Amino acid sequence: MDIFDQVRTLKNFINNCRKTNISVGFVPTMGALHDGHLTLIKNSIKENEITICSIFVNPTQFNNAIDLKHYPIQHEKDFKLLEEAGCSAVFLPNVEEMYPNGVSQDSMLGFNFGSLETRLEGAFRPGHFNGVGIVVSKLFHMVQPDKAYFGLKDLQQYLIIKKMVKDLSFQIDIIGVPTVREETGLAMSSRNLRLKAEELEVAPYIYQTITKMKDMLKDNQAPKEVLEWGISTIHKNHSFHLEYLEIVSTDTLEKVDDYQLPEGYAIVIAAHLGKVRLIDNILVE
Ligand code: PAJ
Repeated sequence: MDIFDQVRTLKNFINNCRKTNISVGFVPTMGALHDGHLTLIKNSIKENEITICSIFVNPTQFNNAIDLKHYPIQHEKDFKLLEEAGCSAVFLPNVEEMYPNGVSQDSMLGFNFGSLETRLEGAFRPGHFNGVGIVVSKLFHMVQPDKAYFGLKDLQQYLIIKKMVKDLSFQIDIIGVPTVREETGLAMSSRNLRLKAEELEVAPYIYQTITKMKDMLKDNQAPKEVLEWGISTIHKNHSFHLEYLEIVSTDTLEKVDDYQLPEGYAIVIAAHLGKVRLIDNILVE
């Protein structure tokens, strides 16, 4: 497995692949890899001749300096996991390599993702999706993949990347991969490494609650009542500080009508548990 830390050496590698018409799959990550990331990698390996994974903790998408400071880093372990999975190459740039003009707001371009960006995660993490849009578009220019893989755990991120690819005419297929979970139901996340043992025990409560909400909706209970039940259930457990819990249409992330469900909808949640912010969702097609 090749490891590149410069755009120049990465591009040489890509250009050689391109000469022989080899298909390139790409999985952008921030490292501290778990089975969720590795499922994206495995899907890419199945569908492409080579797979490139990037590991870069992108400062421009963190609106919280403490979260950035504590983001777990474990490069050696990540390389081992990627090598075992059969990944062809890793791109591991530093901040200067990715942002030669610096990372201050003044030196950065801006994206406008419209209403997709101002709701849910966007409302609680101002500027987050602008940073994601910038870093992912830069990575797409560098890697020029045929296909790129994103987890549906970050549903809003997936929709924003789909929009960006269409609006900027990138010739890249964006593949959404279902959320990978622990046996307890807890969605895998690099941030789970920061949960204390007793927090890990209560963390699955989030998924249990939204699963029950999905069952209630399937039983034709009104979305308004199901939502009220869900919010009060989360509030009952004092370990959690709820940021949002909503039932939204999958395409637009707009709130669903109080009494009527669209064909595709999602139950989306974000809550703090101790010092860690957890997000999760269930998609119903
Ligand atoms: P990161 O949180 O490292 O996630 C990298 C990719 O793995 C994302 O597409 C994310 O949705 C997916 N992923 C994370 N946990 C998952 C799980 N439990 N099941 C399935 N997929 C999962 O998302 C980012 O990094 C960054 O915002 C990035 C896109 C790399 C831009 O900096």
